[in-house]
Amino acid sequence: MNDRAFFLGKGGVGKTTLSGAFALSLARKGKKVLIASLDPAHNLGDILGTRLSGEPITIEPRLDALEVDLAYWVDKYLNESRAQMKANYSYNTAFNLDSFFNIMKYSPGTEEYAVLWAIEDIHCRLGPLYDVVVFDTPPTALSLRFLSLPVISGLWVKELRQLREKILSKRQTVARINPESPIAASCIDKDEDKVYGQLKNIGLRLSRLELLFAKESFISVIVNPDRLSVDEALRIQEELNRLGIPLSAVCVNKKGISDMAWAQHPSLAGYPQFDFDFTREGISSREELMAVGAQALAAHFLNRAGNQ
Ligand SMILES: Nc1ncnc2c1ncn2[C@@H]1O[C@H](COP(=O)(O)OP(=O)(O)O)[C@@H](O)[C@H]1O
Ligand SMILES: [Mg+2]
Repeated sequence: MNDRAFFLGKGGVGKTTLSGAFALSLARKGKKVLIASLDPAHNLGDILGTRLSGEPITIEPRLDALEVDLAYWVDKYLNESRAQMKANYSYNTAFNLDSFFNIMKYSPGTEEYAVLWAIEDIHCRLGPLYDVVVFDTPPTALSLRFLSLPVISGLWVKELRQLREKILSKRQTVARINPESPIAASCIDKDEDKVYGQLKNIGLRLSRLELLFAKESFISVIVNPDRLSVDEALRIQEELNRLGIPLSAVCVNKKGISDMAWAQHPSLAGYPQFDFDFTREGISSREELMAVGAQALAAHFLNRAGNQ
């Protein structure tokens, strides 16, 4: 069931390269694979030698790829929120919703929500068409924010649901005491209340995504043989730990890039480890991607416990 894979790590360690090499190895082992880039910098297409778009494009038999159009998802998220707010608060004309949403576009949190809903769409709509979906992730800060959103927003939504329940039960009390009150004519039942229904729905979507990250994904962190990338991997490990998301593997990429002595950090040494040599000639074709040597990682992914 864990047929979603994410590669995390500092910028430049090789997330796009190893995601591509891993996806290609799986496809050539006979799996139907989708690789989806979540990185607004989008260089997956360059590596695969094809211009990508927001919908899957076939790269070779059994391998499709897409690049999430983040601007599209930001607009979609804001437009849906705007429509929902307008429907819920149609009586409140004093509040200028449009100017509020124009500001929202640039406010913190919007981008990670957009990434999260894009992942949900790929997972739920496209996922069933493939054996494996590989995500090429954006820079660490954004990745950690979208990974933590289901847990954090889930808590918020739970609180808001309880608050809404209290409001509805107060309305019921008023209606009982005074059936003539305008409140008695408003919605007093949980099952009919639009706001309660929306909170319940978003809570379900968030818990599905929480499950996806914590239980159904193979998450690797990539390091290079240098201090800075290891420091960032340690921060990622700590944050994932806090979120209850298990780390599945550690990839050491660009081995042999320098003669400097290097040993794996003890905190990262307990995970299955996969090494990838530095290719001096560079990597600019699919055959060169295959030569990076992700076959062992792909075999481990397919054979690990719980996967049939
Ligand atoms: N094993 C490797 N050998 C040689 N060059 C590599 C290797 N892995 C990655 N690179 C190069 O390093 C650069 C950054 O890799 P990339 O996959 O784009 O990193 P990220 O997605 O983490 O930012 C690219 O130019 C890529 O070709
Ligand atoms: Mg990249």
